[in-house]
Amino acid sequence: MYLVVGATGMVGGAVCARLAAAGRPVRALVRASSDPAKVQRLREAGVETVVGDLREPGSLDAACVGIDAVVATVSAMPFSYAAGVNDIETTDRQGMLELVRAAAGAGVRHFSYLSFSGNLDRDFPLRNAKREVEGALAGSGIEHTILRPSCFMEVWLGPAVGFDPANGAATIYGSGEAPISWIATSDVAAFAVASLTHPGARNAILELGGPRPIPPLEAVRIFETAFGRPIAVSHVPVEALDAQVAAAVDPMQRSFAGLMRCCADGDAIEMGSTSGLLDEPLTTVEAFAGQVAAAAATPV
Ligand SMILES: NC(=O)c1ccc[n+]([C@@H]2O[C@H](COP(=O)([O-])OP(=O)(O)OC[C@H]3O[C@@H](n4cnc5c(N)ncnc54)[C@H](OP(=O)(O)O)[C@@H]3O)[C@@H](O)[C@H]2O)c1
Repeated sequence: MYLVVGATGMVGGAVCARLAAAGRPVRALVRASSDPAKVQRLREAGVETVVGDLREPGSLDAACVGIDAVVATVSAMPFSYAAGVNDIETTDRQGMLELVRAAAGAGVRHFSYLSFSGNLDRDFPLRNAKREVEGALAGSGIEHTILRPSCFMEVWLGPAVGFDPANGAATIYGSGEAPISWIATSDVAAFAVASLTHPGARNAILELGGPRPIPPLEAVRIFETAFGRPIAVSHVPVEALDAQVAAAVDPMQRSFAGLMRCCADGDAIEMGSTSGLLDEPLTTVEAFAGQVAAAAATPV
């Protein structure tokens, strides 16, 4: 039995769907407050659900009973964030450390943890929590995989961060010339599933990107082609990003500012033999842009 923690999220949901479609038994940890429609979709896909929370260690011990392998994709940032209640300290750091402890106690064979790219390496709370959990997992004695994807296409090439081709506008952090290995969440999920059994993922850190690193300005041109219209680019200069980092007070702001500053530095990942873990080709930015343009052209 596989346990997916973060199953109502983008990547965790896709991991559950892949495992269930392959006929592998899956248990999803969902919260009492999770969206009922998402929980229902998991059940309809044949996934067993158990109610728990990373902030409630007893619920993690119970969820890990009889589990062969864990996939953990949880983050409180940004959708589940509640300062001092469900945040980077309580959930991304302490909660995830509790899950590693519970998995070790239950004799789980393998633990795949969704961290982020090693190039995202400035000092901010989310990065520090990720690296601390990576260290705890590596020292836990459990066979493990640390998945370190670059920027998700669905997030960093989307309107939430100002990349809005449907409205002909894109905000670019920094010069836009430093390449980033944008990766689709479906590919992250595919790597997470592969990591559970592939010998190349055993006790490994996998830096994960798409098929090729692409500078943000080139991504804008790709979306212009897909949408058949020009996109107005506005830059947030590095100096403004540095000022944002210096002015940020709470851990969420500091983490967002740190991530944006890291994006300006670029995040190029040489996939090498890692792409061999998948049987399918990685999603290109061109294909993703085509999907976004097609969805924008479809009447609701
Ligand atoms: N965005 C990027 O570009 C990027 C890049 C690299 C790595 N990552 C990492 O990828 C991971 C997955 O991202 P995603 O987009 O799938 O996240 P997401 O859609 O925001 O999902 C977050 C999940 O965490 C759950 N969660 C939040 N607080 C919890 C708690 N206290 N106990 C148990 N579950 C809790 C949520 O459950 P509810 O539905 O109940 O709130 C949800 O299932 C994150 O760890 C993120 O740091 C992201």
